[in-house]
Amino acid sequence: MNYLAPSILAADFCELGTQLDEVNRSGVQYLHIDVMDGMFVPSISFGMPVMACVRKRTKLFMDVHMMVEQPQRYVEEMIRLGADGITIHTEACDCVADTLAQIRRLGAKAGLAINPETPVSALLPYMDMVDMVLVMTVRPGFGGQKYITPCMDKIREIRGVIDAKYPDVKVQIDGGVLIENVKANLEAGANVIVCGSAVFHGDISENIKRFLEIMQE
Ligand code: DX5
Ligand code: ZN
Repeated sequence: MNYLAPSILAADFCELGTQLDEVNRSGVQYLHIDVMDGMFVPSISFGMPVMACVRKRTKLFMDVHMMVEQPQRYVEEMIRLGADGITIHTEACDCVADTLAQIRRLGAKAGLAINPETPVSALLPYMDMVDMVLVMTVRPGFGGQKYITPCMDKIREIRGVIDAKYPDVKVQIDGGVLIENVKANLEAGANVIVCGSAVFHGDISENIKRFLEIMQE
């Protein structure tokens, strides 16, 4: 099963409610929420007050991507605000195992992300502790960037590991995904596809429909 996870980073924040209504009706199951702290990544996106509003407006799985230094500081609060899953970065956290365990203990799904320059081996010690891995396909921090092609080899690599030993772990990709390249990423082994600009720019329902057609083939 493949899942599309529209990223609200690319939404029009003045129209967020109505754009969420449109996503709610579109047949996707995930909503990707990019939290940035201006430290782990250069930019700052949004935080708790926005999450609380989004939670009230959707029943979709709220997939929170923490681009934040020492994300363990916020796990409890994020789950209280309605996060269904929290993904932390290996590069940003001094206590990855403890933080993943905390996320699960509090009832959410645990995800672990690697940046484009981080090897798949950084994920391997934690495979028993995660529900999802996230292979970043752009440098985190901004929407609308170009897909970094060599990352596709990392998708294949982690897919091999998962198929051999951890069949329930999902493989998410994030950044630069377009209608034109989604199929190749699915073939490489990704099954949770984050998509910002290519969903929210233009006709949201139509964009999602086109993605889902390809993803359900
Ligand atoms: C980038 C974020 C992404 C972003 C993707 O740092 O993690 O989730 O929204 O945006 P697009 O799909 O426009 O590359
Ligand atoms: Zn993201």
